[in-house]
Amino acid sequence: MSNLVFNEGYQETNYIFEQGKDDHIKINGKNYIDLSNCAGSIVLGHNSTFFKKKIKSYLNNNYSNFAHPNIHAINFSKNIKKIFPLFSKVIFCNSGTEAVIKSLRISRALNKKKYVASVVGSWHGSVDQLLFKTDKNFKKIPLSSGISKNDEKNLFFIPYNDISLSKKILDKKKNQINCIIIEPVQACLPIDDPGNYLKFLESYCKQNNIVLIFDEIITGVRSYKFSIQNNYKIKPDITTTGKIFGGGLPIGIIGISEKVKKKITKKNSKIFFGGTFSGNSLSTYIGNETLKYLMENNKIISTLNKKSKYFQDNLNNFIEQHKLDLKIYRYASILRIVYTKNNLKNRIQRDFFESKNSIKIKKFKNYLFKNKIYYPSSGIIFFSDKTSYQNINRVIKYIKNGFKKFF
Ligand SMILES: Cc1ncc(COP(=O)(O)O)c(C=O)c1O
Repeated sequence: MSNLVFNEGYQETNYIFEQGKDDHIKINGKNYIDLSNCAGSIVLGHNSTFFKKKIKSYLNNNYSNFAHPNIHAINFSKNIKKIFPLFSKVIFCNSGTEAVIKSLRISRALNKKKYVASVVGSWHGSVDQLLFKTDKNFKKIPLSSGISKNDEKNLFFIPYNDISLSKKILDKKKNQINCIIIEPVQACLPIDDPGNYLKFLESYCKQNNIVLIFDEIITGVRSYKFSIQNNYKIKPDITTTGKIFGGGLPIGIIGISEKVKKKITKKNSKIFFGGTFSGNSLSTYIGNETLKYLMENNKIISTLNKKSKYFQDNLNNFIEQHKLDLKIYRYASILRIVYTKNNLKNRIQRDFFESKNSIKIKKFKNYLFKNKIYYPSSGIIFFSDKTSYQNINRVIKYIKNGFKKFF
């Protein structure tokens, strides 16, 4: 099929998705088990009965879309606050990327300091100010052309999960740091206890009057206690979230703390947030209905965690038995196959060990695809409520065969 669409980042291969139902997607008319579920945003499975019912009710009630503030956004914000009790204001956006861009804007409005500190391995979407990776000496390497030199100059990186080195780097610019932004559990290496590092960042920010931004775009709902900040009792100044909150539709959300709200009011800062579709009633209605459903049926999230643990334990036992140089990482229901058994602290180490395996990894992905399993190019595995144990077992079987064949 000829393809006029650019979607760099999600487009490592040339196959095009056609349909999705429950835990399957269709490519060229054939069913594949989907290990992505729209990059973790579809928690109830593709085209669930619930989703279809709510879309019908949206249409039957003539809810329509308005650029003006609407009742669905207001209702949704009240339920979002139940998940994120620290939010004193909620700002709706159309994507996670937009939420991160605007959260940096809010942060800049709070203090005049120039640096943004980002954490190696955190992914924040298509955001100019953050679209860099680093080499092992933290030298910045742009991930895209077209990024301004100013954005590059104002950014520096600290290593995830390494308190002493992060402190050393931060201390050098201590009085000029506007904010630290972090994906608190990184999907590139979902370690199961990031608490100490996150607490260090929280206290460092407090001591030095730095804004702490938590990017919970994946971990909002998809975490123990529905968020990382709840689980580790951390109080970020600004939070971004999205994905699951859209109930399968586009969304981005920013929540600001009471302290930030007061600062904005006191300074009488004018910060621009609006947009034609910000808080649009389709995403906020479906998002709110989905969130209510997930809160009423909290077994859905705990079952997702159980399924993910089953997958992880089964494969890690196999890896151990066969003495393979691999390991499955997991935080709640965020799963990742890592192509080394070394106990890793962060992405810098992951990339170092994985780089020697890149050809094998490619062959392994192709092998799964030939066996009707879609393993996402991001490498992040997300199950949905509809991913059956039968299909998880099928995936496990082919992954084990692939491990033996290629590693
Ligand atoms: C942690 C995190 N932040 C931000 C984003 C960007 O969100 P979006 O793709 O909705 O723009 C993503 C997307 O995967 C993400 O995982």
